[in-house]
Amino acid sequence: MIPMRFKVCLTAATLAAAMTASLVAGYNITRGGHARCFDHWKAPRSARTMVNPIPATAASIHSGQVVYTQNCEACHGHNGKGDGPTGAFLSPHPANFTRPQFWKQSDGDIFWKITHGHSPMPSFQGSLSRHQRWDVINYLHKEFDPAGGGK
Ligand code: HEC
Repeated sequence: MIPMRFKVCLTAATLAAAMTASLVAGYNITRGGHARCFDHWKAPRSARTMVNPIPATAASIHSGQVVYTQNCEACHGHNGKGDGPTGAFLSPHPANFTRPQFWKQSDGDIFWKITHGHSPMPSFQGSLSRHQRWDVINYLHKEFDPAGGGK
């Protein structure tokens, strides 16, 4: 029994060593989009080309602001920096929408993420209409995108 256990531990240790080695080598051993430690949260390719069907009118941006204040601000913060009162306690921290890096993705990627969520961020598929999800994206651009008139 004891040698058997030893063997199991050894296998686990070998595996851990192999994982560490590939981490050091820079390989993404997890693939598939749900990797927490090595990769960012990614939307599937099909989401990327989804076009925002809602023009960024004053009405849409206003609606998006209401959605943001009620559904996002507690975590993502009033200034979009991921520093809302609830967000401070979360791991990983909520995204900072003022980083240019965040805007390297498409509106379709962002829409997909808001729709599906990624623990601890909830999914908004059931609680926000599609229209509201696009409105909040128009608001994010207006308010936080450095290239879109944001702060
Ligand atoms: C309970 C806290 C919480 C709430 C509420 C929340 N989020 Fe998040 N959000 C997070 C966390 C945490 C992450 C990072 C998740 C990760 O990387 O795994 C995140 C990530 C995101 C991302 C992806 C960031 C990236 O780098 O691509 C988007 C987009 C986003 N949130 C938008 C929203 C919007 C819009 C709302 C409101 C409709 C919202 N979130 C509400 C916690 C929250």
